[in-house]
Amino acid sequence: MINLDSIRMPIVSDLEAFEEFLRGQFSSDGKLMSEMLTHVLSARGKSIRPIIVMLTSALTSSANNRQWVEGERNCTKRTYLAAMMVEMLHTASLIHDDVIDNADMRRGKPSANALWQSRNAVILGDYLLARTMSAGMESAQYDLVSHIIGSVATLCEGEVLQSQHAADKDTTRQDYLDIIYKKTASLISISASAGAVSVMASREDVEQMRRFGEALGMAFQIQDDILDFSRSAKTGKPSNNDLREGKITLPLIEVLEQCTSDERQRLIEKLSECAHDESAVDYLQGVVEATGGMALAARTMNSYITKATSILSRYADSPYREALINLCAFVAQRDN
Ligand code: FPP
Ligand code: MG
Repeated sequence: MINLDSIRMPIVSDLEAFEEFLRGQFSSDGKLMSEMLTHVLSARGKSIRPIIVMLTSALTSSANNRQWVEGERNCTKRTYLAAMMVEMLHTASLIHDDVIDNADMRRGKPSANALWQSRNAVILGDYLLARTMSAGMESAQYDLVSHIIGSVATLCEGEVLQSQHAADKDTTRQDYLDIIYKKTASLISISASAGAVSVMASREDVEQMRRFGEALGMAFQIQDDILDFSRSAKTGKPSNNDLREGKITLPLIEVLEQCTSDERQRLIEKLSECAHDESAVDYLQGVVEATGGMALAARTMNSYITKATSILSRYADSPYREALINLCAFVAQRDN
């Protein structure tokens, strides 16, 4: 089992410097705002997006042919800025998502809305978004800012599309792929290509990293949706929340595609009961498990992983390429 330490290894000094950089950007007067900022900065997740930015910047930098030296930093401030922007957009989007989903837990800790009520959590998300944009503009790295900022609109489109389909209970495989591209893969794709943009890589490299990030991001969200059905995952979120929220994700789509139209109708009716009836949740969870929905979804997830790693195979061997290949394996195997 690949662990994140081996993935962080070639950029460990950069990640430490990045944490300092990040904290320097987000300080505020006022007791409540300071308290909320301290919480969100310390309750962040695995920092997958900053890791991707730093590794793809190193992979595509023309300085990559110089010898890697343990403990030495590779990244410039421009790369930290890109990493900060994608990480904070992601953090803001999850704070808003927890308000929308009325979720009490995030990464094993109380969500911002559970701690400070939705009205403060919404403002906190807005504040992070606003600070991120102004930090980007103040740095005058306009190419980088314009590369990243469009992803906010894509995330919003994904969220609304998901709401619409959760209400109508009519999500097809194509709808699902469109939603997960917009809500997750787009920002991971922007993270991977922003790393390349931050080191002035060639257009070809920026495009390859965009494609790499898109494939990895699709796999990442499919795995997230598989883990939601798993009773033993360690995600820090209650399992089967997607069913309670009425969301049709890939493991359930795999089952629905095998059903007759009558059976499909019956399962959709059960899904409508999941918001207020735990026995309906248990029933659908059992059907998905028994019909192999998770294993079938894992096949699609693995095809995206294969695509992501095949893009990396075009690059020369280096500690950064190795770490990115390990990241692909980690995404496919993770249980958190
Ligand atoms: C988590 O999905 C949510 C997202 C990946 C995107 C949410 C986007 C918005 C709320 C749009 C607003 C954007 C900004 C930048 C303020 P999930 O609910 O499937 O995952 P979960 O189980 O981790 O909650
Ligand atoms: Mg959610």
